[in-house]
Formats: sequence, structure tokens, C-alpha cells
Amino acid sequence: METRIAVCAVADLLPGSAQVVHTDIGHVSVYNIDGRFHAIDDLCPHMRESLGQGHIDGACVTCPAHGWRFDVRSGKSPDFEGIEVATYPVEVADGTIWLILTGTGDDGWMDWDGATDPDDIEKELFD
Ligand code: FES
Repeated sequence: METRIAVCAVADLLPGSAQVVHTDIGHVSVYNIDGRFHAIDDLCPHMRESLGQGHIDGACVTCPAHGWRFDVRSGKSPDFEGIEVATYPVEVADGTIWLILTGTGDDGWMDWDGATDPDDIEKELFD
């Protein structure tokens, strides 16, 4: 099943900015990177700060809490191998940015519900 969620008008999401969207699967942040739109889970997998409130530099957003960075095109951390957030398709139609959520179970929805425990990440990275 596909769900399309209107994010905002294209004109309202300027390059280098983000918009947080509230969905049934939680918060998703949508970014305009040089005129292309990308969507990732909004909550940082470290301690669940809003990535949509972070600083955007190029294609990376820096978490405002402790500085973990994520490439919004891939969801991957450029700093820590294996650390990533889920990504979601985005489309533009009729001047509106649309977030596309598809399916249930193993294709992204569970990435949200099953977000990695911050304590496990800390242990894996720093022990
Ligand atoms: S909550 Fe994002 S780096 Fe700590």
C-alpha cells in the first residue's frame, strides 16, 4: 500500500533547508539539497534528537545534540560505518512536495519502530 503525504509547496522549502513531517510512522524530515528533495527518519539514532533541526552542509545534516552527521541522500553516517537512518522516496507534482510511504514490515517502516537502542550504539562504537 502506498501513502502520499503532502509536505509543502516546492517554493516553501528553499535549498539548504528542511521540513519535518508528522506521519503514522513517526516524524520524517524532508530536505532540499540543491533543488533535489530527500527524506529521512527525523529522529537521530543516537539519542533521538530531531535531525530536521540540524545544520545542513552540502548533503549532510548534523544532529543538533551531539554532532552526528548523516548524508540525507543515503541516510548513512559519513563518520560511523553501519550507522544510518531510513530514507523515503519524495516526488514533486503540481508544485507540491510529496513524501511517499510504501508497504509495511521490512521495507522501511520497521526501521522507525525498530530504531537502534542508543546504548547499544554507544557500546558498539566506543567500547
Ligand atoms: S542525539 Fe543526535 S548525535 Fe546525539
